[in-house]
Amino acid sequence: MRDSKGRDINYLRLSVTDRCNIRCIYCMPESGIPLVSHDDILSVDETIRLCGIIMKAADITKVRITGGEPLVRKGVLDIVGGISDLNPCELVLTTNGLLLRSMAKQLADAGIERVNISLDSLKDDRISRISRRDVSLHDIEEAVAAAFDAGLGPVKVNCVVMRDINDDEIGDFIRWSGETGVTVRFIEHMPSRLPEDTFVSRDEIIERASARGEIVRQIDDGTAGIYSFGNNGQTFGIIAPFSDPMCNSCSRIRLSALGTLHSCLAKEEGISLKELLRNDAGDEIISDMVRRAVINKPDSHGGCVQAKMWKIGG
Ligand code: 5AD
Ligand code: SF4
Repeated sequence: MRDSKGRDINYLRLSVTDRCNIRCIYCMPESGIPLVSHDDILSVDETIRLCGIIMKAADITKVRITGGEPLVRKGVLDIVGGISDLNPCELVLTTNGLLLRSMAKQLADAGIERVNISLDSLKDDRISRISRRDVSLHDIEEAVAAAFDAGLGPVKVNCVVMRDINDDEIGDFIRWSGETGVTVRFIEHMPSRLPEDTFVSRDEIIERASARGEIVRQIDDGTAGIYSFGNNGQTFGIIAPFSDPMCNSCSRIRLSALGTLHSCLAKEEGISLKELLRNDAGDEIISDMVRRAVINKPDSHGGCVQAKMWKIGG
């Protein structure tokens, strides 16, 4: 449905857990996140029911399953199956890949069509330093292969660019994406627990990529600017919430694992659909609240982006 600014809101990001099996330095504190009680998290049935109401109320055609890390959520396959039965035009998932090797086939069978995988370095020691866990490039390459095998391509790989941490690897990532057949998307670091000067702008990313070949901007794809590289048809993306906010064409709303509907990343507060559901509000009342949230979606994040991705779903 259209919001008050005329934007077509048709994309729901659904966080199914706030937990994760790694601890990326730009996302989670080393000690993990404050534990929320199991009862506070939407059950599988509640998740599917709310998703159905939201999809119908706002005319949602695309659903992305996110986290935390969605694959650590018990019952994630049931959630995927239930949402797939609601027939969204697109059902996709974002993961850190660590559990993908064992789950790719089941996810595809349950209805996932494509996956995005997070990877911030091609060097084992850096991957482990960034994720604060013993993770290797091989683990992620296996996840990528499993995704392709299960028919979950085209696979996109998301890389958060951080100064003095991985910003010397942009050219390597472009080369690696050519070798593996994935599309790499560089993401501007959003304020987190890392120092402010960790930020690397879109222009700087382009400048670094240009060292390896000519870069030409193509037509955007959702929130990502798409760039062609060299003349072999290869492309990469840049998601630049600061240099290129794309708020004007934002089509998203988010439902957290706690059952709160957020109409913008900049708004940490949201509407608790879980409370309504658990207080036996009927579908009509919940639908009404959904439509109200969509209509009142903020015009832009105004640079004030919350980086609690594990909470409201990257
Ligand atoms: N800045 C940019 N992207 C982030 N993500 C999480 N935290 C941040 C942040 N501070 C994104 C990463 C990860 C996805 C799940 O969320 O891209 O791949
Ligand atoms: Fe986990 Fe994703 Fe946060 Fe990394 S960014 S700690 S993979 S939820």
